[in-house]
Amino acid sequence: MNEPSESPARALPNGGLWPDAAGVHVNAHGGGLLKEGGLWYWYGEHKTAGRAGNAANVGVRVYSSPDLLAWTDRGVALAVEPDEASDIARGCILERPKVVKAATGRFVMFFHLERKGLGYADARVGIAVADRPEGPFAFVRSLRPHGEFCRDMTLFRDDDGSTWHVFASEDNATLHVAELTPDCLDYTGRWWRMAERTWTEAPAVFKHDGWYHLLGSGCTGWAPNAARSFRARRMSGPWEPTGNPCRGVNPANGLGPEKTWGAQSTFAIPPDETTGGRWIAMFDLWRPDDAIDGRYAWLPADFRDGRLEIAWHDTFPPAALAPSSSPSSR
Ligand code: DGJ
Repeated sequence: MNEPSESPARALPNGGLWPDAAGVHVNAHGGGLLKEGGLWYWYGEHKTAGRAGNAANVGVRVYSSPDLLAWTDRGVALAVEPDEASDIARGCILERPKVVKAATGRFVMFFHLERKGLGYADARVGIAVADRPEGPFAFVRSLRPHGEFCRDMTLFRDDDGSTWHVFASEDNATLHVAELTPDCLDYTGRWWRMAERTWTEAPAVFKHDGWYHLLGSGCTGWAPNAARSFRARRMSGPWEPTGNPCRGVNPANGLGPEKTWGAQSTFAIPPDETTGGRWIAMFDLWRPDDAIDGRYAWLPADFRDGRLEIAWHDTFPPAALAPSSSPSSR
């Protein structure tokens, strides 16, 4: 097991096609994962063909897997609505869905929402809720948190049970970190600005050895740019910049850290036995001209001297998935 070879016995090709159990490329872009009842659930944007496929023509799709490798399509977790007056009318922009289990035992989904016909000017968060991880999720409401813009976003569940919504605000110039209420349906009112005027989007949060690490990208639409990272001792900050954590080159496109191998971050998968005890950084390789053909890259994170590092590998898991250089401790 784990002998160095070109590709492990069971592995997914980073940047290639990721077949689900039915042999169909996984359709869960800008996604995030949740572990529940021994299964991982992968929620993501269901894209359709062509340029028009970047809009939400279907909704949020969900897959499940016991091992992060074999993915079963569990259907549409949150469906867009035929009613043109709905906030999530078919054809709206619904991006980067993330799901947490609230203290109520219910599953709560947050996503970036642009109501139909408004381009990217609406800048809201949408909230939906379900009794089971696979859904169906019922749309609850959309809003601008504390009255501010909300675009690219993630949710982070801390060890103490607190839940944090991190989102690109102030027209993408500055990230906001806002604490959620225990039912995850509202905000406590405690929020902070971070990475001020760095135009950071695509946030993903890791925690290791008492450091919170935020991975993100610059703002260049669907085109790749250089990733950046920040770290803090508390989610409330202060956050200090820690540079571009990416290493190595994607041989399929010749791109390295200057373009994040052609990818953009979306989520950090917390460590367990299926991740080899490591945090996994999830990325999208967008194909905006044929949105459904977007690809994925999942890469184990390292933490050296309190800094996040992510190296390119051709497969997930990497061919030689060595144990983490330092044991995982949150
Ligand atoms: C970059 C964001 O990260 C994506 O989620 C999407 O909103 C594109 N911009 C749209 O151009």
